[in-house]
Amino acid sequence: MSQETQKQAVAREALRYVVDDAWIGVGSGSTANLFIDALATIRHRIKGGVASSVKTAERMKSHGIPVEELNDAGDLAVYIDGADEVTRAGAMIKGGGGALTREKIVAAASRKFVCIVDASKVVDVLGRFPLPVEVIPMARSYVARELVRLGGQPAWRQGFVTDNGNLILDVAGLAIADPVALEATIDGIAGVVTVGLFARRGADVVLVGSERGVETIAARR
Ligand code: 5RP
Repeated sequence: MSQETQKQAVAREALRYVVDDAWIGVGSGSTANLFIDALATIRHRIKGGVASSVKTAERMKSHGIPVEELNDAGDLAVYIDGADEVTRAGAMIKGGGGALTREKIVAAASRKFVCIVDASKVVDVLGRFPLPVEVIPMARSYVARELVRLGGQPAWRQGFVTDNGNLILDVAGLAIADPVALEATIDGIAGVVTVGLFARRGADVVLVGSERGVETIAARR
């Protein structure tokens, strides 16, 4: 099964977690896009979606899926999104597409997080994928120096501005043994908006596409 086929398989499998007559939290990225395409086939069963990025909102609208603001939808039953890396315990690196802040907000407001990935994303230790950190523009250099003090090698993502008008530093060289602790440490640096570590609120379920089909991991039991 190709990587694309694995993504399509987990996107379809995620439909099992969609709650009827509810607003669904919807993530960003190529795997989430395939989920949106699948969600369109059952759009009559749901109220619509709460988007984690402008692109996701546009894709849902293009499929005729109603889009609601999180402020008006209230708490969500489920949030479905991809990841750049995920452990079997449900800790993730996210933000490869730069939507990490809104993704973290929608995830926080959701009772269940279903992470959908192909097999290449599952790791024992997070950190091979450079960790995205969204920063307030005036804090870019200061935050970068603090990240170096933590042992990372930050690179300014060139030509990219987030949906919130901020910048991204991609931090290489971190072997993240304790994702919950590092998430709290980086969140505590002045000027950091969001770190792309999703460990305090990790995934509840990870759907992994592989050669053998879709594996379901109940991550936080
Ligand atoms: C975007 C994200 C995505 O979930 C992550 O980058 C995975 O994307 P893809 O499904 O395209 O590999 O966090 O900010």
